[in-house]
Amino acid sequence: MPLPYSELVMEHFRHPHNVGRIEDADAKSVEGSPACGDMVAVYLKVDPETHRIADIKFESYGCASNIATGSIITELAKGKTLEEAKGITWQQASEALGGLPPIKTHCSVLAVDGLQAAIQNYEERHGLVKERVPTTVEVVRKRLKRVMNPVTGLDVVRTKLVRDIEVAEGKVRVVIDLPADHQFAPSIREEVMEKVGHLWDVEQVTVEFTE
Ligand code: FES
Repeated sequence: MPLPYSELVMEHFRHPHNVGRIEDADAKSVEGSPACGDMVAVYLKVDPETHRIADIKFESYGCASNIATGSIITELAKGKTLEEAKGITWQQASEALGGLPPIKTHCSVLAVDGLQAAIQNYEERHGLVKERVPTTVEVVRKRLKRVMNPVTGLDVVRTKLVRDIEVAEGKVRVVIDLPADHQFAPSIREEVMEKVGHLWDVEQVTVEFTE
């Protein structure tokens, strides 16, 4: 039975706004949903003076709800300051779309998480993080829960690919249980660097593979 999508959801799904990538983005995020294994990427261009979102684009590897939510939240975020955009919630996105079936809540949560992670990425890259929590093994592990294992579509922690994490004096070492010549090793390395490398007290990240 087809899901009862509103006309607005269908319209944003058929003709999504702000789809694509920004090659010279000031910040980006890739988030995956533990519920379904789908992914969304969000790219930002931010005015360095006003901290307004000058441009925003997204790529979705998710379903119609995810695409429609990505479309609506990028519209809501464009032109807003980072602080204002931080206030955008999945409930707002869902309301703006005329509602989503409850079974599809995680799809709009995924899109909003993508936006919030891109904002966080900008703040980390530009030294704007206010809460300076020291980086620990647990902080790194939490970050790695947002690195996808493309083999399974779930994150690298849940799929037990993280063999070891060490944190000492600004240096982070992550050992991934995959051969270095595995086809996904370069993208996992890049994702780990992206998620961990911008933490305020991290100076160096080393990603090692087991074979
Ligand atoms: Fe995965 Fe909707 S089912 S994003």
